[in-house]
Amino acid sequence: MVKKPWQGRFEEETSRILEDFSQSVTFDRELYPQDIRGSIAHARMLGRQGIISEEEAGRIIEGLEGILADLDSGQQPWDTALEDVHMNIEKILTDRIGEAGRRLHTARSRNDQVALDLKLYIRDASDALSRRVEEMLDILLTRAQEQAGTIMPGYTHLQRAQPVLLSHHLMAYFEMLRRDHGRFSSLGDSLDDSPLGAGALAGTPHPIDRTMAAAELGFAGITRNSMDTVSDRDFAAQFLFNAALCQIHLSRLAEEIVLWASAEFSFIALPDAFSTGSSMMPQKKNPDAAELVRGKAGRAVGNLTSLLVVLKGLPLTYNRDLQEDKEPVFDSFRTLAGSLEIMSGLMAGVVFQADAMETAADDGLLTATDLADYIAQKGLPFREAHEITGKLVALCLARGCGLKELALSELKQECGAIDEDVFDILKPGSSVERRNTPGGTAGKQVQRAMEEAREWLAKVRAD
Ligand code: ARG
Repeated sequence: MVKKPWQGRFEEETSRILEDFSQSVTFDRELYPQDIRGSIAHARMLGRQGIISEEEAGRIIEGLEGILADLDSGQQPWDTALEDVHMNIEKILTDRIGEAGRRLHTARSRNDQVALDLKLYIRDASDALSRRVEEMLDILLTRAQEQAGTIMPGYTHLQRAQPVLLSHHLMAYFEMLRRDHGRFSSLGDSLDDSPLGAGALAGTPHPIDRTMAAAELGFAGITRNSMDTVSDRDFAAQFLFNAALCQIHLSRLAEEIVLWASAEFSFIALPDAFSTGSSMMPQKKNPDAAELVRGKAGRAVGNLTSLLVVLKGLPLTYNRDLQEDKEPVFDSFRTLAGSLEIMSGLMAGVVFQADAMETAADDGLLTATDLADYIAQKGLPFREAHEITGKLVALCLARGCGLKELALSELKQECGAIDEDVFDILKPGSSVERRNTPGGTAGKQVQRAMEEAREWLAKVRAD
């Protein structure tokens, strides 16, 4: 049996069952780089403040650096009897440097320590996700620029609605991910305040300098209330929300990939490297990568829900329930990082079938709105124009043809204001070009949007 820090007060040893049930080191070991970074800052501050000697602080820091290197290279084992990552590292330190190691936990509790570790982890994870989002934005933008000019049907209700540019459609995902990028890059919800120094819940009698440790760890400031600090996980909930929303955006794109790769659409061909075959049906090429990304959105939403439910009804301050905060965070991070990588690879390799898209956009009725707008521009109220166009659409449906196959005399019969110039209006290309308002699908607008996006992305990546 390993000696616990609280052994002084206890007569019996911890039950093996409780040890197994309550240990977290099998998963919270993921926090070791942050835990060691936090401990180094804490030790340096203790030394500067004369709470421990500078010499002891030096030995602690050197010891921690050695442990970090050994953990990085996988040479240092973990002990589940020592409950969590914090107690493991403290024990390894004490085994290595002796007495001085036992002074590290002066003026600190695992309660402020774990809040610090998780906050540092989430700062690192958000940063890593921002980079992954940037890669995907770059790929989306590059594909959109390559496809400038390709026309496809735009959908509402998954019914063909109006012709749009494929690049406009792709840039819609650029905008979603740009917002995700903004959420991962902003340090809202106390992510920029250091929890270290809150102690167990009420502060500490030692003359610590919280601001010094905070600055060393890259925080802008310190949290304001020790009781809130050790029980606050808002920043983790916010991170899980950011990850869930980004994963949901990816699931929407994944769904379009699945649809577009079907024989019914045939808008894209999947790259071999990002598709799988069937063990039974030799002809198949499946969009498993996109399906998995779509499916993993379930996990991301589940992780957010899971933490919110843990927090619900928790009295102040630290409660062990809070140990349940970590796995959802680790899982959402890994899931999203992997999904962004896969979707980036997939989108880079997808082959767009421009002909199939253009044929679908030229189905004869997609420019009905253009006809109604044309009639309205001739001076009729839009509602009347809509009704006239509706009748002409019904005529096309009865005859199995498109609007541009109707004779001018037939068009004139419904509306005398229609002239020969209408036939130009009915082409998908002119429909697209007439939507030349900011944010619209006309080539000029999309070109401008892509240029702005390229500049923005370059600036973000340079920062
Ligand atoms: N493993 C614990 C957690 O993740 C660390 C804090 C433990 N604090 C305590 N008072 N038992 O929450």
